[in-house]
Formats: sequence, structure tokens, C-alpha cells
Amino acid sequence: MTQTTIKFLLNNELHSVENFDPNTTVLNYLRNDLNRCGTKEGCASGDCGACTVVVGELENGKVRYKSINSCITFLPALHGKQLLTVEDLKQGDQLHPAQQAIVDCHGSQCGFCTPGFVMSLYALNKNHPSPSKDEAMEALSGNLCRCTGYRPIVDAALNMGSYPSCQTTEPSTTEQLQAINDGCTATLSNSVSHYFSPTSIDELAQLLIDYPKARLLAGGTDLALEVTQFHRDLSTIVYVGNVAELKTVTETESSLVIGSAVTYNQCVERLEQEYPELGEMIERLGSLQIRNQGTIGGNIGNASPIGDMPPVLIALDATMTLRRGHNTRTIKVADYFHDYKVTDLKPNEFIQSIEVPKAKPGHVLKIYKISKRIDDDISAILGALYFHIENQKVQTFTAAFGGMAAIPKRALHCEAALQGQPWNELNVESAMQALELDFKPLSDVRASAEYRMDVAKNLLMKSFLEINQSVGQQKTATRVTGYA
Ligand SMILES: Cc1cc2nc3c(=O)[nH]c(=O)nc-3n(C[C@H](O)[C@H](O)[C@H](O)COP(=O)(O)OP(=O)(O)OC[C@H]3O[C@@H](n4cnc5c(N)ncnc54)[C@H](O)[C@@H]3O)c2cc1C
Ligand code: FES
Ligand code: FES
Repeated sequence: MTQTTIKFLLNNELHSVENFDPNTTVLNYLRNDLNRCGTKEGCASGDCGACTVVVGELENGKVRYKSINSCITFLPALHGKQLLTVEDLKQGDQLHPAQQAIVDCHGSQCGFCTPGFVMSLYALNKNHPSPSKDEAMEALSGNLCRCTGYRPIVDAALNMGSYPSCQTTEPSTTEQLQAINDGCTATLSNSVSHYFSPTSIDELAQLLIDYPKARLLAGGTDLALEVTQFHRDLSTIVYVGNVAELKTVTETESSLVIGSAVTYNQCVERLEQEYPELGEMIERLGSLQIRNQGTIGGNIGNASPIGDMPPVLIALDATMTLRRGHNTRTIKVADYFHDYKVTDLKPNEFIQSIEVPKAKPGHVLKIYKISKRIDDDISAILGALYFHIENQKVQTFTAAFGGMAAIPKRALHCEAALQGQPWNELNVESAMQALELDFKPLSDVRASAEYRMDVAKNLLMKSFLEINQSVGQQKTATRVTGYA
């Protein structure tokens, strides 16, 4: 069944939209069509957080609240969700704790960034009523302020739990959202652009057969920039975020199977249990707002040479399942990227899932994300190195880099220089040298070619020193325990 209306809860009221341009962002809709101008536009590219709003989404029968960037969210992606903006927080005369704490801690000067900060704090308050400093810093990682300075805002985050809470969630929200999520394919069209939000994988596969030129939309944190930065209109959009089969994380004996519409924040915990280093890296991928929306499927689908997940997946020898009509095929992530933005994906085909091998005993994964800022910054280089070292000998070694070529790519010469060799400084230096045969990096705004090559080499030496240090620490620990 198909419906031509998009429905969502605007605060607690059912809101319907039809016959409307699906390329409209939530931010523009709020400001231009609903006259809700509290939500601000700073960058229109997901970088500053001024446009932060909160969405409530049903997950396992409960409403989960997430901060998102409304400037890079298409309006129809709200179908089946609850949208809360800064206008919804105050109850009568009573400010929400997120607002009152900003006032009391002097967390605002010109006020332009403030609604965005308040909404990030609001989501934090929903998810962590008494947040730790780390939780507060994570919640604020996608919001920039030019004039106040962050200390008073962090104070507000840490203090707001002590204010009397201000209830803004009606008990009926869950039921209302369940009623909207009735399993129908929702569509939104105007005379030139069409948007489809299928709910099953079979419908999705059929839509891509019917509309071979459709653009797939997952979190939109890359795709929406084509509209907001390059002023292109997408004529047919197919949203994968409501396809139930693509939103699961399952396990086999040897791997985690991550549906392509699973967001980073929905899978980071499980990935972190397997590979703590990967958990740390994902915590630095974009901001909380970006990780609430973005997906690994979209990161691969975007095929950027500086996407963070592909080098890691390549180093781990991950595979992915692609589907076209009723047919599926499996391909190594390493073989997916052919040339700059040219991939193995065929017309009508989509990424169904990504299969990440589980950690193997005795193996060590090292991931180095090199960017100018710790939070919310695209990598200049990302190195992923996966070692199995036993008896001081490199049994297996896979290395992949982003930012060093037109595609995320394995460093085959570098690998060969270490494979089967004694684990010592001399051999690591040979592997560093071999990187020159693997890559001829470019200079761009993020880094020069020379910097990229020097850093990539040094990351190998860093991994050597770190691995030896941790082995040394283990030996010391054993000795101490032995004496005890
Ligand atoms: C402020 C900001 C910071 C960012 N920081 C980082 C960062 O630190 N590291 C990083 O790697 N990236 C970063 N990104 C980029 C982006 O967030 C990631 O690439 C993200 O994983 C994209 O996922 P998405 O679900 O939003 O993809 P979308 O934007 O929805 O899609 C991206 C592309 O993949 C295609 N696609 C989506 N789903 C599928 C599918 N199932 N099958 C086939 N193709 C598909 C789309 O058609 C589109 O071409 C950042 C982006 C922003 C705006
Ligand atoms: S306006 Fe800057 S993140 Fe949206
Ligand atoms: S208060 Fe002015 S930008 Fe934050």
C-alpha cells in the first residue's frame, strides 16, 4: 500500500504534508513554511549545529530521542517520527532545564548558536538525566559557538540535571507514532521531484528496478549536501531508513552483519565490543548529530577517498551483500572501489548489508584518524593496520589507507614488506619505504602530498612502538602478578 502524504508529529500534534518538494530541508520548512524561526541556519552543511532539532523515533517499541542537523535532513525523512524544536520546550512560563541552565550559567551571548545548543542539551537530558562530563562533551561535539566560549555551556550541561524536570513527552506519543508507522510506503511529490519511503526490502528492490536513476537516501549526511551546497534538485529519491530488513544488526559465528540503514550510533556499541579501536574512531566520526543519522552503508555508498569506515573494513577483510531485484551477490569491500567515485554498484543495485569479521584471537587492530580537530572533522588520512604477530614474527598483516589515493585502498607493497618477516624496526622501516610504491597522494585543502606520505609512514612506526609497548606492559603486569 502506498500513501501520498508524509506524516509526523510536530511536538505532539499530527502534521501532514503532501504535494511538496521532497528536496526541502527540515530547516527551510521550519523557517519558511511554519514560521518557526528559532532554529537557525549557520553553515547549511552539518558543521555548526545552529540548526539542531530533536527527533523522537520508535525503536523496539520505545521512543528514542536524537539530536540531528535539520539543515541536511530532507523533510519527508521525518515520516513516522516526532519533531521537536526549540519552540516546543517551554511549558507555560517555565523554561526547560536545558534553557534555564543556559541562562543561569551565562551560556549565551549573541544567542545565534543558542537554540542549537539548547536542543543538543535537551536530547542529552532525555538520554542522560545526570550526564557525565564525557557524555556532555559528546552531546555538544556538533555545536559551535563563536562568542560565549564553551565552559559556561558545559557547566549548563552538567548542572541541568539538578533542575525540576519539565515534561514535554505526552504518554500517547508512542501510540501516535505506532499509528503513523503503519507499514505503508510513504511518498511525497511535486510536479518535478518524487520521494519514496518503502518499508520492506522487496519494495525497495522493485522501486530501484522501476526508477533506475533514483538516488538512494540513508542518513543524508552526504547526499543532502548536493542540495544545500551545490543547489542541485534530486528528481527521484528512495529512502532506505524505513526498510525494516536494513535496520538490523545480526551475527553469525564469524561476523557481524550490519544492515545498510543502521546508523553509527545504533551499531557502535557492538562494534566497540569487538574492536575497541573502532569504537574510538567512530566516536570521532562527525558529531553526535552526524552519527545519529549517518550510516556505514552511506559511507561506503558515497565512495569518498576520505570516508573513515572503508579503510577499516578493507583492513579487516569485510564483505558486503549487494542486491538487485531478487538477486544478491557478495563482494569484498576492498573490491568495491574502482576509481574516484566509481564503484562496483550496478544500476538498480543497492547495498543490503556489511559483514564485519569478528575479532580474531592474537590479532591487533590499529586505527589512526588524522584530522585537524579531534571532533567533527573529516580525515586528511586514515590508516587502518591489522596485525597478527606471533613469536616475534608477522604472520599476517593488512594495511589500508584513506586520503592517500582516489579511493580507499590496500597498501599491498607495504604489506608484502612485513608479511612473514621478523617483527623488528628494520622491517617496519622497509614497510614504511614501500608505501611510496603503493601511493602517490595529492595535495589539497586538508594536507599536502608530502605531509600525507610522511604521516602514513610514521603511523606504521607508531603502531610498531605501541604494540611493543603494550607487549612490554603485559610482561610487566605478569611479572608483578607473579611476585604478588
Ligand atoms: C559535518 C559532517 C561531518 C562528517 N564527518 C565525517 C567523518 O569524520 N568521517 C567520515 O567518514 N564521514 C564524515 N562525514 C560524511 C558522512 O557523514 C558519512 O559519509 C556518512 O557515513 C554517510 O552516511 P549517510 O547514511 O548519511 O549517507 P547518505 O548521505 O544518505 O548517502 C551517501 C551516498 O551513499 C549512497 N547510499 C546510501 N545508502 C546506500 C545503500 N544502501 N546502497 C547504495 N548506496 C547507498 C547515497 O545514494 C549517496 O550517494 C561527515 C559529514 C558531515 C556533514
Ligand atoms: S546550519 Fe550548520 S549544522 Fe546546520
Ligand atoms: S552565543 Fe554567539 S555564537 Fe554562540
